[in-house]
Amino acid sequence: MNINDVKKIAVIGSGAMGHGIAQVCASAGYSVHMTDIKQEFLDTAMKKVAESLTFLVGKGKITQEAMNAILANNLKTTLDVKEAVSGAQIVIEAVPEVMDLKKSVFKNLSGIAAQDAILATNTSTMSVSEIGSVVSNPSRFIGMHFFNPVTIMKLVEIIYGDKTSDDAVELLCEVSKKCGKIPVKVLKDRPGFIVNRINAPNQALLSAILDEGKMQPDELDCVMKKMGIKMAPFETADFVGLDVFTHILDYYAQTLSPQYKPGKFLTDKVAKNELGQKSGKGIYDWSSGKAAIDSSKETTDITPLHLLSVQINEAVKVFKEGIATSVEDIDSAVKFGMNAFAGPFTLASGMQPEQLTGALDYLADRFSLDILRPEPEITDGSFKTIGR
Ligand SMILES: NC(=O)c1ccc[n+]([C@@H]2O[C@H](COP(=O)([O-])OP(=O)(O)OC[C@H]3O[C@@H](n4cnc5c(N)ncnc54)[C@H](O)[C@@H]3O)[C@@H](O)[C@H]2O)c1
Repeated sequence: MNINDVKKIAVIGSGAMGHGIAQVCASAGYSVHMTDIKQEFLDTAMKKVAESLTFLVGKGKITQEAMNAILANNLKTTLDVKEAVSGAQIVIEAVPEVMDLKKSVFKNLSGIAAQDAILATNTSTMSVSEIGSVVSNPSRFIGMHFFNPVTIMKLVEIIYGDKTSDDAVELLCEVSKKCGKIPVKVLKDRPGFIVNRINAPNQALLSAILDEGKMQPDELDCVMKKMGIKMAPFETADFVGLDVFTHILDYYAQTLSPQYKPGKFLTDKVAKNELGQKSGKGIYDWSSGKAAIDSSKETTDITPLHLLSVQINEAVKVFKEGIATSVEDIDSAVKFGMNAFAGPFTLASGMQPEQLTGALDYLADRFSLDILRPEPEITDGSFKTIGR
């Protein structure tokens, strides 16, 4: 199959990610059929797509005629999954992050979609190979990881499962580009893929800072915000939901290192149902709708440089493990998947080995986290030339 053969895309699940994926595919001219388990979910999804397109018309990004055409011709909904996948060359799944649910969805899809249709999962953490183990002809099974919000974030990680064909990867890269996205290939199906993996040790560090209790979360978040970061690290944890944050750390503890295990502060919060924005209270009070961050506090203890050092160190590991094709791809993934100013290797080029090694050893000692120890390439300075 080549890009010109792709006419119809089915989207399974119309939640936060599904409706965004449907919108960008329909806006690129594909005929999109989206399905969910309840009509009210599909209605809410279509309302959100219409609001988003109206916003784009207001900004002059698309014309009113284009919006009308997308809604009238390109994007349809149905409760009948068979109807949704009928005639589709690509099926993209965006149902909740539960392994058994995803497997049962794909077991069904494998029987009802065309035998050569590409079957893609939008999982953000779980093993693509394991999800795809239930489909016939697994060479067409692949990870297609969009970032939230889909209409804004440019990155799509295109992930190889252990049986995925090169053709399927190339095709989804082309389709992503046609949808205005920047695809980055993920060569190995490892936890967190590229972007979430590079973020992972900093998530463990945040949990350790909360447990240590010496520094207020406000102090670090304030400094990050002053640097122009829209959503600071602890605020992000509350925004994502401390239940989701804890679940992700648990997953990394099982798959990467036991040191990722979420700490007492986070598990206590989850037990008390203080989950962050969605419950009105988490690390911060959210009763006003926004995180009540005390902006009078700033830390000189743990700084943005520490967090950046952790990212650079993890990026070196990602490259050495062969997860990405090149350091340029890693930089692109972080830049477009985190809306960062630049990627870790670009930022590292202006830094000295002693600076990074000092910061990493300090954190590893203070929080008893060996996952933060500097890689040999950080200590000997070869991080500046690795992969180049
Ligand atoms: N939200 C994010 O920030 C984000 C970012 C990247 C990837 N992801 C991944 O995307 C996937 C979806 O996440 P989300 O945030 O959109 O979840 P969500 O809960 O907002 O939406 C999931 C939707 O799937 C529907 N659904 C459940 N079972 C279904 C079934 N059998 N058939 C059809 N639809 C079904 C639900 O009714 C719901 O509308 C997850 O794997 C998640 O890890 C999420």
